[in-house]
Amino acid sequence: MFPVHLKARLSDFHNPPETPPVFIYGGAGVGKTHLAVAYLVREIQARGEASKVFIRSVDLMNRLRDSFRSSFNQAASEIISAFSRHRFLVIDDLGAERHTDLVQEALYDVLDFRAGHRLPTVITSNFSLDRVAEHYGDFGDRITSRIAGMGEILALKGRDRRWQR
Ligand SMILES: Nc1ncnc2c1ncn2[C@@H]1O[C@H](COP(=O)(O)OP(=O)(O)O)[C@@H](O)[C@H]1O
Ligand SMILES: [Mg+2]
Repeated sequence: MFPVHLKARLSDFHNPPETPPVFIYGGAGVGKTHLAVAYLVREIQARGEASKVFIRSVDLMNRLRDSFRSSFNQAASEIISAFSRHRFLVIDDLGAERHTDLVQEALYDVLDFRAGHRLPTVITSNFSLDRVAEHYGDFGDRITSRIAGMGEILALKGRDRRWQR
């Protein structure tokens, strides 16, 4: 279920925040996904696997888009409701996907619900929050406002680890 970084550990990072940050951003290869998964792994170790989910933003948006297009797929509202309620959710690489107005609104719905119910959410992105706001058009400001209201924003700096091996 979690294809990436199964061995991710918080102790690999210097002084990571105790509470998972809601938004981790920075350049390619600095370790955003690794850090997000480290929080997920810690959560699973503490409270079990049920309802702890990692999804790439691209996959989430594709599932939503398909569901809006086709009556055979799982209805969009079911997907929105499922991702709204997971006990712990990582959305990886926000902003990397192509999206439509309906998908923006769906993302907003998920984040709004999670913010309202204080459900821990970790989002990684190459974009800063300002750029996320621009990226999501009409819903940009509302999406970033929900994100900012949910917790800490962490800028991850450093070298591209993919080049160092
Ligand atoms: N703190 C770390 N300790 C060990 N390896 C790491 C650490 N952070 C990242 N990596 C490794 O470096 C590579 C890039 O990290 P990744 O999290 O995918 O970067 P990003 O998501 O920022 O593009 C991956 O192979 C990952 O396993
Ligand atoms: Mg990544």
